[in-house]
Amino acid sequence: MSIKDPVNILLVDDQPAKLLSYQAILEGLGETLIVAGSAREALEHLLKKSIAVILVDVIMPDLDGFELAAMIRNHPRFQTTAIIFVSAVAMTDLDRLKGYEHGGVDYVPVPVVPELLRAKVRVFAELYRKTQQLERLNIELERRVDERTLELAQANAELERRVEERTRERETALAQVHQMQKLESLGQLTGGVAHDFNNVLMAILANLDLLARAVPETPKSKRLIDGAIRAAERGAALTSRMLAFARRQELSPEIVDVARLFSGMVEILRSSIGPGIEIQTVFEENLARISVDPNQLELAILNLTLNARDAMPDGGRLVIAARRETVAAGNLHGLNPGEYVCMTVVDSGIGMDEQTMKRAPEPFFTTKGTGKGTGLGLSMVYGLAAQSGGNASILSKPGVGTTVYLWLPVAAARMEAAPTTESALTVTKRCSVLLVDDDYMVACGTAAMLEQLGHAVVTAASAAQALEILQTDASFDLVITDHAMPGMTGLDLIRRIRSTKPRLPVLLVTGYADLAGGENPGVPRLDKPFRADKLAAMLAVVLKGASQDEPSDAAHSNAMPFAKSRANISIVK
Ligand SMILES: Nc1ncnc2c1ncn2[C@@H]1O[C@H](COP(=O)(O)OP(=O)(O)OP(=O)(O)O)[C@@H](O)[C@H]1O
Ligand SMILES: [Mg+2]
Repeated sequence: MSIKDPVNILLVDDQPAKLLSYQAILEGLGETLIVAGSAREALEHLLKKSIAVILVDVIMPDLDGFELAAMIRNHPRFQTTAIIFVSAVAMTDLDRLKGYEHGGVDYVPVPVVPELLRAKVRVFAELYRKTQQLERLNIELERRVDERTLELAQANAELERRVEERTRERETALAQVHQMQKLESLGQLTGGVAHDFNNVLMAILANLDLLARAVPETPKSKRLIDGAIRAAERGAALTSRMLAFARRQELSPEIVDVARLFSGMVEILRSSIGPGIEIQTVFEENLARISVDPNQLELAILNLTLNARDAMPDGGRLVIAARRETVAAGNLHGLNPGEYVCMTVVDSGIGMDEQTMKRAPEPFFTTKGTGKGTGLGLSMVYGLAAQSGGNASILSKPGVGTTVYLWLPVAAARMEAAPTTESALTVTKRCSVLLVDDDYMVACGTAAMLEQLGHAVVTAASAAQALEILQTDASFDLVITDHAMPGMTGLDLIRRIRSTKPRLPVLLVTGYADLAGGENPGVPRLDKPFRADKLAAMLAVVLKGASQDEPSDAAHSNAMPFAKSRANISIVK
């Protein structure tokens, strides 16, 4: 009902003539007039319609006006309906009082003064309209309050959900940071230990090599020396895995065709996992080539295969797959956006529980018992992936199996394949070598190897000492320098030598990828620990490069060819 809509006015009287006269008086109000000739008829109208004002004759034959008013008031719907009594008799104050007690709001005497009746009815009709309007506004207000309360409750629930989500995210992020910090410090520790250990192994291997040549060969001496060399090589393999975890190994990335690399090692994998395990490969056709150190990738695949073998003591299935994937920004793997090859190594073995799965990549974490596992296999895989610009992750379920994901970046088209195998050339020329190493043990071992190869050696214990020697002695054919030395590093020394003696060949020895930002030093490099044959091969390359460079200028001598022989895979078990 709008503010202008007419309201219903009920006129109750048993005399039709009076009803007609009331109608005539009230017509001009513009309201709807309803007439009832008896109290019963009036009640019928009341039950069907909403009535704003009731005009009741006091004296009626069946039910008088007061009784009708009392009945109306008793009904909850009509407790506020305005009832006006009209009467020619019963006009005393007592009568009026009775009328008010029965629920009347006014009393109009007969003969009716038309203006008075109209004015009274108008006031109550208007009051009714206003009350209705107020009620409607009230209902609307309550509806809006309810709506708002609901919205607020929903907003509150959403806020609480977000706070919980944020708190969870923050806790997860903190746990990840904590884990990364832990791995970082473990990496530093491992890298440092591996570096020192490498030097020790270097000396042991060098001396064993010399011993093998010095001692007359008998079956017994050969067995003993070979055993010692194998043990030292096993140690070298361990340090290399430690360096891999510490992401400080020397990597020589090449363009690698995973399928081809895999086919080259499938036999060794088959023989190392035994006949009980079936190997299946699923390589995407024309799989993109990746940029990675092939030796290290072989080692990683081998480590994963051996883990799968250990997880399937009663046989099972090993699936090695690789497919190309495009990785977008903000991906779940934490990879830089770009093109990758995702390798998966899936076994149907015993799997891992949540806790083991979380700790598996940690260095030295193993469940295989003392002497059986070093706990460096997976950490090497993770280290290699990270150092190569990729990522590794594990998904495992006890009793179902394990999947290791290895993401490696697709090689940029402009990358050229590095030269591969270089046979161990022997140098016929006897050279004068300046050997620079701060580690006495290592220096002695390398010097002895060089002498064994027929070269004359002068040793310097520091870069500064080497520079002094070079100032007074111009007879050297070659400088071999360690990189990680206190004071001046091997690379700094090489830069100084380049400025005064651009044609003097140099060889950088390092077992620790601590060259700033993994920069390419532009000089031939030999990784520690090395054996006499590797040193001989390297000297051949360096000296050959130098002789080819002979007539050229200093700039050219910076780009001497460097070939690295690819190590064979040795299974450390
Ligand atoms: N495929 C797998 N299935 C079940 N558990 C595995 C699997 N791979 C790794 N693990 C669990 O993770 C641990 C760590 O693996 P990791 O390769 O680093 O070391 P390891 O295999 O114990 O020792 P190592 O590799 O030096 O022989 C394992 O001891 C094993 O508990
Ligand atoms: Mg392992």
